Amino acid sequence: MNDGKLVQEPGPGVAAGADVSGQDGGLAACRLTILPASLLEEIEKYGLESLGRSAPNRWMLPVIASWGLLYVARLGADIVGSAQIIRCLQKGDLFMDAFYIRPDYRGAGHGKAFLSGLKKELAELGFQRLLATLEPENSAGVRLYAGCGFEIVDNLPDYYGKERHRFLIASSLAVI
Ligand SMILES: CC(C)(COP(=O)(O)OP(=O)(O)OC[C@H]1O[C@@H](n2cnc3c(N)ncnc32)[C@H](O)[C@@H]1OP(=O)(O)O)[C@@H](O)C(=O)NCCC(=O)NCCS
Repeated sequence: MNDGKLVQEPGPGVAAGADVSGQDGGLAACRLTILPASLLEEIEKYGLESLGRSAPNRWMLPVIASWGLLYVARLGADIVGSAQIIRCLQKGDLFMDAFYIRPDYRGAGHGKAFLSGLKKELAELGFQRLLATLEPENSAGVRLYAGCGFEIVDNLPDYYGKERHRFLIASSLAVI
């Protein structure tokens, strides 16, 4: 289902794409390294729709694209989701944030295909572990991450302020 091969030549804002296509007909995880103005505006808008005020904005997206890892999930020409990733001080570890699938595309397996494809690509880049935070009440997120091999490694009480608790979750990149 997911052979992780590169399927896309670098185009405007696109560095590489890992094919994570399944029966749904072709989701690709594409890393963006530069963000032309129209693409920046588009991704900022999609982030706001899915994540509200916690979405990365136009000041953060180019920084992550240049110095971290910024991915979009593409279905044909459509961007249907995104995720941003930074390297941790602990060698081999990455931290992922702002992972989403756009509302109109949810419930069709794209979240799982995108996350599995990202794990495979990050493993191929030589990283060992992917960490993230997860809101305990986010039932879709809990199922998605559990189905992709993540486990709770810590509790983070009041992580984003009073009563905004999070789990710290992690998955080995050796096992997809
Ligand atoms: C979480 C999110 C990425 C899931 O995307 P998706 O494309 O709908 O996910 P999938 O269709 O691949 O489903 C993945 C799993 O979640 C389950 N799921 C999907 N939507 C669900 C919902 N509303 N309630 C409960 N479970 C749900 C699916 O049944 C599937 O579980 P299974 O593999 O055990 O059957 C999407 O809802 C989203 O972007 N939410 C807002 C941002 C967010 O919460 N990000 C993740 C945490 S930071």
